[in-house]
Amino acid sequence: MILEATMPSTTSSNLEDEFNPRLSAEARFDSAAAKLQLDDGMQKVLRTPSRELIVHIPVMLDDGRLEVFTGYRVQHSIARGPAKGGIRYAPDVSLDEVRALAAWMTWKCAVVNIPFGGGKGGVICDPPLLSDSELERITRRYTAEIFDFIGPEKDVPAPDMNTNEQTMAWIMDTYSMHARQTQAAVVTGKPIALGGSRGRSEATGRGCMIVTDQALRRLGLERGSTRVVIQGFGNVGGMAARLMARAGYKIVCIIEWDGAVYNAKGLDIAALMNHRKETGSITGFAGGEDIDKTEAMFQETEVLIPAAKENVITSQNAHRLRTRILCEGANGPCTHFADPILSDKGVFIIPDILANAGGVTVSYFEWVQDRQGYFWSEQMVNDRLEEIMVNSFQDVVAYADKHGVNNRLAAYMLSLDRVAQAIRLRGIYA
Ligand SMILES: NC(=O)c1ccc[n+]([C@@H]2O[C@H](COP(=O)([O-])OP(=O)(O)OC[C@H]3O[C@@H](n4cnc5c(N)ncnc54)[C@H](O)[C@@H]3O)[C@@H](O)[C@H]2O)c1
Repeated sequence: MILEATMPSTTSSNLEDEFNPRLSAEARFDSAAAKLQLDDGMQKVLRTPSRELIVHIPVMLDDGRLEVFTGYRVQHSIARGPAKGGIRYAPDVSLDEVRALAAWMTWKCAVVNIPFGGGKGGVICDPPLLSDSELERITRRYTAEIFDFIGPEKDVPAPDMNTNEQTMAWIMDTYSMHARQTQAAVVTGKPIALGGSRGRSEATGRGCMIVTDQALRRLGLERGSTRVVIQGFGNVGGMAARLMARAGYKIVCIIEWDGAVYNAKGLDIAALMNHRKETGSITGFAGGEDIDKTEAMFQETEVLIPAAKENVITSQNAHRLRTRILCEGANGPCTHFADPILSDKGVFIIPDILANAGGVTVSYFEWVQDRQGYFWSEQMVNDRLEEIMVNSFQDVVAYADKHGVNNRLAAYMLSLDRVAQAIRLRGIYA
């Protein structure tokens, strides 16, 4: 058993710990650091964020009241390049959460070997209660407050929960106004008209397909006879479903928050998308049958892609999964308590920091294109994405084979090793 050191008991009293993303990330860090025999000093460096900024943003609301919002930006590591990571707007954003997510970005960028460190930002606010102009003012003032901290060579934000292309356009504009010149490369996830990359919106789902293709090759499976169950029919799950169906996979089941739809012969994904557009739900689709959404994830399949949210596979249900391959489209869909159960079952896991890294990889391409001032065709973006995802998959499984560990631990070990190596080569400046 590989993650024995972190295998806790599964009483309800520690369920709260099980669902804490910071503890999950730390448990995986600890396992990888121990296996790599990283010395204590290096572990301290890698555990600790480089810089943390807290800003308090005064914003005039539409009704004339003045409100103060709190925002964060954390740079976990800049050892391998500028910090990279999203900005989220939500009422429950906390410094602790932003710290954990920034570290996660460091490992994700390192596992796909792109020249970025990890960062994350957030503003405590409730977007559904705010108008567009209030959100614009929050965004612009937040950008002005963190202006010295970010930049194409320092820290490159991107969209995350409740932020989008428009938010990135406001950040790019505000930053450029302060810099007195247009600086498109300060953020990624921009509209294409402002220097965004072709292929970005499909990139994460496409990345999931590319690594699943690699897993099939390794396990001697064929696309045409491979059943796929996908939880979440949004950006990641919807794109993965569309691309994989087109490539010949049998997408037998889609699970959403309000129901699940099944067809043993494979769903017509384009028709299901139209159905959802017309009715607002995937249920009641003529090309499939509605099934119990809570049981759908546990049906027998070759590939399961959880692409909705975190903590869906836990110590309580991991033993019930009947999939050969688990491709983690979402961030943190499996708790660290579920890891040893899945490992014992022999599920071939493509861990989130690898499986969903297609998004940050095409963000990297966006940054490169903005700095070049030369924009690539969609085909070129897709080809280069494929090259990076295939190489990263091969690196992870080779690492797993070499060290006799599972893929998740291998991905963490590989990324910790890469960041530690960069720090050793640069030396500690004092
Ligand atoms: N979008 C990206 O490029 C990207 C990149 C890396 C990681 N991720 C991660 O992937 C996950 C999904 O992101 P997204 O951008 O596709 O979000 P999204 O909001 O576009 O899609 C999520 C979908 O999941 C559905 N959903 C929510 N709760 C559910 C539940 N309990 N059961 C089934 N379905 C449920 C939602 O209705 C929605 O359709 C998140 O964990 C995100 O952090 C996204």
